[in-house]
Amino acid sequence: MSTDLARLADQAAAEIAASADEAALESTRVRYLSRRDGLLTAATKRIAGLPAAERPAYGQALNDAKRTIEAALEARGAVLRSAHLRRSLGEQADLTLPPRRVRVGRLHPVSRTIRDVSRIFGTMGFETVEGPEIDDDYYNFEALNIPPGHPAREKWDTLWIANPLGDDPARPLLGRTHTSPMQVRVMERRRPPVRVVVPGRCYRYEATDAIRESIFFQYEGLAIDERLSMSDLKGVLYSFARQYFGGERAVRFRPDYFPFTEPSAEIAFSCFVCEGRDPGCHTCGGDGWIEAAGCGMVHPNVLRRVGYDPDRYQGFAFGGGIERLAMLRTGTPDIRLLYQNDLRYLESV
Ligand code: PHE
Repeated sequence: MSTDLARLADQAAAEIAASADEAALESTRVRYLSRRDGLLTAATKRIAGLPAAERPAYGQALNDAKRTIEAALEARGAVLRSAHLRRSLGEQADLTLPPRRVRVGRLHPVSRTIRDVSRIFGTMGFETVEGPEIDDDYYNFEALNIPPGHPAREKWDTLWIANPLGDDPARPLLGRTHTSPMQVRVMERRRPPVRVVVPGRCYRYEATDAIRESIFFQYEGLAIDERLSMSDLKGVLYSFARQYFGGERAVRFRPDYFPFTEPSAEIAFSCFVCEGRDPGCHTCGGDGWIEAAGCGMVHPNVLRRVGYDPDRYQGFAFGGGIERLAMLRTGTPDIRLLYQNDLRYLESV
């Protein structure tokens, strides 16, 4: 009996030594040691049928056979692994190959602009906060003084999303069309004074062209206190323009309309490339002004809704496009370049 086991172990060791690769070695291991139907396992089960006097010697022989097989597996495994390693090292160490180019990463122009916006408004005491990209009708429209049926809704068409978690199907979700819902969300949670800037992604049902995308970024600013006026708004944006574009910038305010601000204005900065002196300027289109954002004094209806007393508190809000700012400073002529992941463009800006 014991000599049978010794022969089994020798036979296993020979097969193991002849295994050409790690896969062959593994199937040899399974053939002998598999717990279900390995040859050695079968031999182990035979011990139950032996007379008691023969069992100790048989047990000893089993242990020896197992140790022999395991040692052979270990040794062959080590040889195969190091051969494999040597082969792959040999392949990598071809010293005649030119070195690989080291590519240094950098921030995307949109990320850079978001950081600049946060940093610059940060110098004026604005805290950066973020909010949900998927919001609802209440925050995107209703609380901003845009009731159902209001014509301003047409200007901000978006994707509507059935709300699988909501219990009220009449309140579907939407991709927010601007960062302005965060005016309301912030005021709901805080008491004045408030000073926040909110960068974030927005969505609009929009035909894409060189300056419009259906997914884009905005930054929203909001300041609420007891004695704020349009001149504070002007000063803040003037300072932003100077810091972002450099040099002395003029800020132009023209009347505009937004349901959630009164009065409302559109802001433009004097062109940082031509200073209004080049009728052929590609950056400003020749008129010397770069339109940058919408703004105004927060509408009393909006304040009332969040429980702020409009007789005591006023404030201003502004909102503009991040890509616009990024494009202006990098000289990017088409917004779509920002999102095509074309390294030829990304490495050039
Ligand atoms: N949310 C407006 C837009 O997307 C911009 C805006 C923000 C206007 C804040 C006034 C105040 O067009």
